[in-house]
Amino acid sequence: MTNFPKDFLWGGAVAANQCEGAYQVDSKGLSLVDILPDAKQGRWDALMHPKAAAQKTYDFYPSHESIDFYHTYEQDLEMMAEMGFKVFRTSISWPRIFPNGDDAQPNEAGLAFYDKLFQKCRDLGMEPLVTINHFDTPLALMEKYNGWADRRLIDLYLRYCDVILHRYHKLVKYWLTFNEINMILHIPFLGGGMDVSDLSAKEALQTKYQAAHHQLVASAKAVKMAHEIDSDIKMGCMLAAGEVYPNTPAPADVLAALQANREGYFFIDVQARGYYPNYAKAFFKANDLHIEMTDADLAALKETVDFVSFSYYASRLVSADPEVAAEKGEANVFNSLKNPYLPTSSWGWQTDGVGLRITMNNVWDRYQKPLFVVENGLGEKDELTADHKVHDAYRIAYLKENIDQMGQAIADGVVCWGYTSWGCIDLVSASTGEMAKRYGYIYVDRDNNGQGTNARYRKDSFYWYKDVIANNGVTE
Ligand code: BG6
Repeated sequence: MTNFPKDFLWGGAVAANQCEGAYQVDSKGLSLVDILPDAKQGRWDALMHPKAAAQKTYDFYPSHESIDFYHTYEQDLEMMAEMGFKVFRTSISWPRIFPNGDDAQPNEAGLAFYDKLFQKCRDLGMEPLVTINHFDTPLALMEKYNGWADRRLIDLYLRYCDVILHRYHKLVKYWLTFNEINMILHIPFLGGGMDVSDLSAKEALQTKYQAAHHQLVASAKAVKMAHEIDSDIKMGCMLAAGEVYPNTPAPADVLAALQANREGYFFIDVQARGYYPNYAKAFFKANDLHIEMTDADLAALKETVDFVSFSYYASRLVSADPEVAAEKGEANVFNSLKNPYLPTSSWGWQTDGVGLRITMNNVWDRYQKPLFVVENGLGEKDELTADHKVHDAYRIAYLKENIDQMGQAIADGVVCWGYTSWGCIDLVSASTGEMAKRYGYIYVDRDNNGQGTNARYRKDSFYWYKDVIANNGVTE
């Protein structure tokens, strides 16, 4: 018995910056991600101090070649189609279209690549689901404007949207304005290369929320633009989600969890409801933050998204007690206490399928807009056997638990359009720059140093997911 509707969109997700490689091919400009080294050379430090990182020369940049999807996309998409994908989520690399972000004309060679990519998806019966900006803002916008801290990024982003929405609207119906928009509070670099490392804590907070405001206005204006270009287009927002649990039933812990949840929901509250929530205004006041917003901005925010998408890897745990709060675990890149009820991956991420059901119910109850689970999965080390097999039972167990719980959420009454598990083909990890942290159904023969044949092999999970799709979510 399946809980999934018959037109449920099953598929997988990647992002341009983590799979395409070809970092300077066909006149592509450098993106922010192109200056990031791998973990051994200090990727995290570079994320936190991007201006300093941009001055350094590293031995190896994982994004430069990545898995070379730019040249292998046809065969890769054919393998996705073989699994029965009905949707394929990827992103457009902004610096392929505007190499410097503010060029007078778009780059035709970059546009032509996505014509072919999206057409190939369609030919194979897959809906493309496209993220407009997934971490790879043109590097020049960091150097010239300090990223989204500068209001002018709104118009530059809208020019880019105008070009791609006009060009691809007949091929692409589902769009996301910004990947994990709430991440800007945790990794400001992802806000177009913002560097807040020299600022006081208060100034940094002010800068991050001002940049967030610029992104929220840009997102709302992009939604309006898309609807005017083609009324069939469905525009979504995208949250790095994961319910935050209180460490104990102590009311102070419950309040701390409520506040931590709001930190992420803040973005979606604006994008899905069309105005700033009162708690945000109270937060700005309490922290003496003065966010510049014009009446025209507030009017623009009224254009809301058609659906709410999110990534979900793990739940989180918080405590109001500063001593307890000092103990750290991991949940995506967020801080979280260690939850004794949950297993962890080799990278310390705590896995929690029931947390997906809880998150889906809460997001649905809050917005009453269709959901799309656009990232979920387990990053683990895989072993390729001599006969080119990968026996990834651990990944199947993770996905089974999560898909079953997603089905339970749908049975609870949540409306969900689809599911694209993360990294359906192995790609470069965003947080560590490693290849060894693999999420895929398809193994890519490439290591952390970019060595390997780059050949593709089907893992056990490939055949398992194919059956899940064929049986519309039955995971037995
Ligand atoms: C999400 C991002 O935060 O998590 C992806 O949208 C990222 O870009 C994914 O790859 C998994 O994180 P990581 O660090 O394991 O690659």
